[in-house]
Amino acid sequence: AGPCDIYASGGTPCVAAHSTTRALYSNYTGPLYQVKRGSDSKTADISTLAAGGVADAAAQDSFCAKTTCLITIIYDQSGRGNHLTQAPPGGFRGPAANGYDNLASATGAPVTVNGQKAYGVFVAPGTGYRNNKASGTATGDAPEGMYAVVDGTHYNSACCFDYGNAETSSQDTGNGHMEAIYFGSSTYWGSGNGNGPWIMADLENGLFSGGKAGKNTNDPTISYRFTTAIVKGEPNQWAIRGADATAGGLSTFYSGARPANGYNPMKKEGAIILGIGGDNSNGAQGTFYEGAMTSGYPSDATENAVQADIVAAKYATSSQASSKALAPGTLISLRAATTTTSSSSSSSSSAPQYLTHNTTTAALTLQPIPLTTRSRRTAPPSFQHQQATWKVHPALGTAAEAGCISLESAAAPGTFLRHTGGGAFTLALHPDDGTKQFREDATFCALEGGLGGGGSDGDASGGDVVAIRSWNYPTRYLRRYGGGVYAASNGEGGNEFDAAAGFHEEVNWVVETGLA
Ligand code: AHR
Repeated sequence: AGPCDIYASGGTPCVAAHSTTRALYSNYTGPLYQVKRGSDSKTADISTLAAGGVADAAAQDSFCAKTTCLITIIYDQSGRGNHLTQAPPGGFRGPAANGYDNLASATGAPVTVNGQKAYGVFVAPGTGYRNNKASGTATGDAPEGMYAVVDGTHYNSACCFDYGNAETSSQDTGNGHMEAIYFGSSTYWGSGNGNGPWIMADLENGLFSGGKAGKNTNDPTISYRFTTAIVKGEPNQWAIRGADATAGGLSTFYSGARPANGYNPMKKEGAIILGIGGDNSNGAQGTFYEGAMTSGYPSDATENAVQADIVAAKYATSSQASSKALAPGTLISLRAATTTTSSSSSSSSSAPQYLTHNTTTAALTLQPIPLTTRSRRTAPPSFQHQQATWKVHPALGTAAEAGCISLESAAAPGTFLRHTGGGAFTLALHPDDGTKQFREDATFCALEGGLGGGGSDGDASGGDVVAIRSWNYPTRYLRRYGGGVYAASNGEGGNEFDAAAGFHEEVNWVVETGLA
């Protein structure tokens, strides 16, 4: 039986069932999600390998080979048609066209489920999914339950990485108009014990960790790589529960009365959100693998059986990066696989161009500087050669990025390549200040063979071709554009350097032995 078979036999059937990794009913054979590829904007549905089974990730891999792919629809498996699609603007606008939120990369969250490859939904800040016309979800003070399996190491403190019930208008319509699972380290409204992240309930104008607003120390920091998160509510009663999604049982972190000030009775509206707040606040990040919403307040025993089913699904990590060319400990240089159209390099048109920083001061945009020939390598190495040479490190970020890397400058040891995020997505060279933000911004994952038509893993010089994407913004790749290098998306980002034209060629780099 799957989680939704278990909820049904407990008398609290799923009214929404979402997962990009597996079927949540033992007899489900329909599509799990839809992807759209960047090369020609075509879409494809990804289904399970077998009834009740794991997603057919190989179908995605072949459809998305050599291009970018976004998750466009997360299908509802409950039969009610409560699919999740790109979230529209509400109280806040998203970064995509017409104020919509971004769609998630289809390859940002690789895992294995029962030993089979699958992909979760990697929500970078600005990403969100929603259904404002859901049917059968709880409204008013009606009872409901929800669970989600998330990556407990991928979070931030912004509002709000949520899954669950929200406003149908995408606006903040007041206290009690939402009831959703929140996962992250926000302390603005409430917090739990320790530094977070925590499972809290987003009840609108408040993330609640217990019976009262603010800090409730019974809600522990919970950061298992795979974390089961539960919120459920019925008239003047609600609960938070959580567990390691790979072992053991659920613990109850709160169970009791509704908070004061407008939360009893509740005024739930029944829309469904993923990765955002009720008013389309979209600064949060997190990863969603599977989740469901029920009609009726599930018993603890039913939820315990759902947790046992999740454990039996055997979620496990999978390498994010498929290129071995960027081996930690080696010194490399990254040569542009094609000559850029940059006007700044026109004076030395045929010279190879390398990913290079042009001074050792912090916060500089990287420039590919033409080096006349590789034979110019000198002993001792020139400063210019050092500026084009990078020491490969295992990712500075958390264990979530297994297989990803960080690049330290050979010319300025202790400083690392990072993107500057926050809508700018320029590149800079900064010292490791130990912060979570820096370390995530300095983590990149290399895709063997690069993107685009060429189809070869090597080039004339024998070097490996790679495309290198940002870990925390997996739709963004290191791209040469107009004489600079940026963390660019394929046509979706709104910056000039996010243009779709030329994207596939301008993200490919040849990995060479370090010039210095
Ligand atoms: O309750 C926290 C957040 O506050 C909600 O998600 C959002 O709608 C509002 O900004």
